[in-house]
Amino acid sequence: MSIILSLETSCDESAAALVSNDKGKIELLANEIASQIEEHANWGGVVPEIASRRHLENLPFLIEEVFTKSKLQIKDVDAVAATVTPGLAGSLLVGSITARTLSNLHQIPFLGIHHLEGHLASVFLSEKHPKPPFLVLLVSGGHTELIKVDVQHSYERLGRSHDDAAGEAFDKVARLLGLTYPGGPAIQKIAKSGDPKKFSFPKGRVSKPGGGFYPYDFSFSGLKTAVFRQIEKLREENEKLPIQDIAASFENVVAEVLVERSLRCALEQGLDTLVLVGGVAANERLRTMMLEKASEKSINLALAPMEFCTDNAAMIGAAALLRLSSNYIQSSMELGVAARWPLEKSDLLYAPNPPF
Ligand code: KG4
Ligand code: ZN
Repeated sequence: MSIILSLETSCDESAAALVSNDKGKIELLANEIASQIEEHANWGGVVPEIASRRHLENLPFLIEEVFTKSKLQIKDVDAVAATVTPGLAGSLLVGSITARTLSNLHQIPFLGIHHLEGHLASVFLSEKHPKPPFLVLLVSGGHTELIKVDVQHSYERLGRSHDDAAGEAFDKVARLLGLTYPGGPAIQKIAKSGDPKKFSFPKGRVSKPGGGFYPYDFSFSGLKTAVFRQIEKLREENEKLPIQDIAASFENVVAEVLVERSLRCALEQGLDTLVLVGGVAANERLRTMMLEKASEKSINLALAPMEFCTDNAAMIGAAALLRLSSNYIQSSMELGVAARWPLEKSDLLYAPNPPF
């Protein structure tokens, strides 16, 4: 059995967790999050400088809390893991330096984790453990990607957004509607009482240079503009904004696009299992629609548990356990942080000469 202390500080959530694996099952021993969302909401989005400072203040308390709650001590821990890429560099540094300091002080291995691999590992915090090969739809505030996982830790990106990520579209449309940040939960809430068919918004497609469209790619910036134009039009006509209907129609078209393109990709690539992870995977309309359509096409669906869709440290711990069990024993203490790094090259985070 291995016990991991994991830290997540890539964006606006400071988080620490203790996880273990017993006979192949990942067990959550303690999981703490300090959200900075309310503070950033005053600015309409994440302010990097504030985020780093808050991580620095929050992390010691969160680490203390996971040990208190689990009744464990640092001497019980087999490795310390932290997100090292992608994310806000200053924020990533706080988690990474804290993990490396603990690793050095207590002579335990350090593992740097790719944030997207963390999101992917969130599905292993459920009862259902999908076995590769499978297709992953990763939808968060920074990414919208379709990733083929052939064998554990081998990734091939088959689709992506060419502009805004799905979560970013939720955040921007929420702002247009005068709702709070983050937009996803706010839109989901008011969309419940709206008509999802009231407005017909476009399903953005990405043209190929030689004609036709990229079948598995996404574009959400046109959708955001269409919502903006609709709002302007209604305002010019002096109509009271039907924000519930706009929110529901927007949410519905995003869910439809994500469901249609990922199921098409899975079917055409001969993959019978689809995994749904990332902050936007918490969206109820998307989860329900994906479950219904996947079952119609006889595709197995593995959903990340709702509480582990948005950023948390449990998923970083789960990713570290999966690395450890595949013999990626540790990262170099020289490994730093990077604002961007391709998931396909995440094996290099365990190289003796790290890439950053
Ligand atoms: O995965 P995450 O916590 O952070 C990133 O790695 O980006 O995702 C945050 C994003 C935000 O854009 C937020 O609006 C969106 O996930 N989100 C949702 C929901 N909950 C969070 N979008 C739609 N519906 C939700 N229920
Ligand atoms: Zn994330």
